[in-house]
Amino acid sequence: MPLPDFSPWYHDCDLTGSNTLRLPSRAQFFVAPGTLSGLRCCIGRARREKLPITLLGGGSNVLLPPVLPGVVVHPALGQWWLERHGEHTFAQVGAGVNWHTLVMALAARGLWGVENLALIPGDCGAAPVQNIGAYGVELADVLTEVQIMSLTDGQTRWLSRRECRFGYRDSIFKRELAGKVAITRLMLKLSRAPRPVLGYGDLAARAGDAPSALEVAQTVSRIRQEKLPDPQCLPNAGSFFKNPVVGEAAAQRLLARHPDMPHFPLASGGCKLAAGWLIDRCGLKGQRFGAFGVHERQALVLVHLGNGDREGLEYAAGQVADAVRENFGVALEVEPRTISA
Ligand code: FAD
Ligand code: EPU
Repeated sequence: MPLPDFSPWYHDCDLTGSNTLRLPSRAQFFVAPGTLSGLRCCIGRARREKLPITLLGGGSNVLLPPVLPGVVVHPALGQWWLERHGEHTFAQVGAGVNWHTLVMALAARGLWGVENLALIPGDCGAAPVQNIGAYGVELADVLTEVQIMSLTDGQTRWLSRRECRFGYRDSIFKRELAGKVAITRLMLKLSRAPRPVLGYGDLAARAGDAPSALEVAQTVSRIRQEKLPDPQCLPNAGSFFKNPVVGEAAAQRLLARHPDMPHFPLASGGCKLAAGWLIDRCGLKGQRFGAFGVHERQALVLVHLGNGDREGLEYAAGQVADAVRENFGVALEVEPRTISA
């Protein structure tokens, strides 16, 4: 017998303030269950009433449509705790915990593993979806298991890291399991022994000698604040495109023309390019397309300058991608998740 669900269902709910791009959007229903049984009840009710379910965390990596039929479910499971298993310390974390708050809390306790991922907006439940990454670390480096709940029958189970099939900005949650499960908890393996990863950019120079986990997190936060616009002041979704991966021959052809082009050969073959550099070299930094623009400090970030909608954003993104294709012959793929009506 399932417990009754006490989470209120809001009707005709404005989501404009619930996505960091501030795209105008309204949901038919919105609900934020704070427990597993509450989430299961929401899933059951949506199925009985034949309402499609859209999961929403902090809204920092979504392109929302103007009208979203069905129910938007915001899993608000807000608890986390530490567990000791032998030598190792694990954090078990609810989907509704704010990612950056967790990072700072773990770093402050001297636990290593997630400090390079400081100041990434959003909730823990969305972190596995694109396998968040920054400054040489990805979630997949520390995550051991993910608890999921089926959107069909409300059953929960744990997936191993291997089953999540993580890649660069990729996972099973963008593919086979997209729209089929809610991520409810994460299990992260942390280290009490110092494990600094300082190889990215000028992080080593900025972090100083033998920094603590907290100092690394604070340094990463400062570097990010210098480069990236704060969505509270200038709406954006972080990198708007993924960094493209091209074949070795294509990379060599581009390097012959642009010897200074940043490029990162991959162990799996091919070469990752910096989309921000490509856009920058098209002369688009600071360029405006209607209500949207290319950020003046980080060309990979598209910013919403006011009174725009998703159509306008898609136009601006198309202009940027076309310029990169024409100048470099490289196709860009949008990074944020496009939510269909
Ligand atoms: P949302 O935007 O709410 O959702 C993203 C996707 O996950 C959607 O498809 C949604 O349906 C799905 N989803 C959400 N919750 C769940 C759940 N519980 N179960 C299943 N599916 C779910 N990303 C990086 O990787 N590295 C960065 O350095 C980085 N920097 C950023 C900087 C800025 C300024 C901004 C605005 C964004 C940045 N991002 C970065 C992108 C973003 O912060 C991450 O992708 C983050 O994990 C999104 O979390 P969210 O809770 O906001 O997800
Ligand atoms: N660059 C330019 N001009 C620009 C932007 C970048 O020349 O306008 C050059 C930089 O000088 C550098 C290279 O491009 O040589 C890479 O730039 P940066 O280090 O700023 O990182 P990025 O590749 O643009 C990626 C992630 C970010 C993540 C940072 C740090 C993607 C799509 N983006 O950006 O993630 O924070 O590295 O690790 O992989 C996000 O996903 O939303 C995001 C912000």
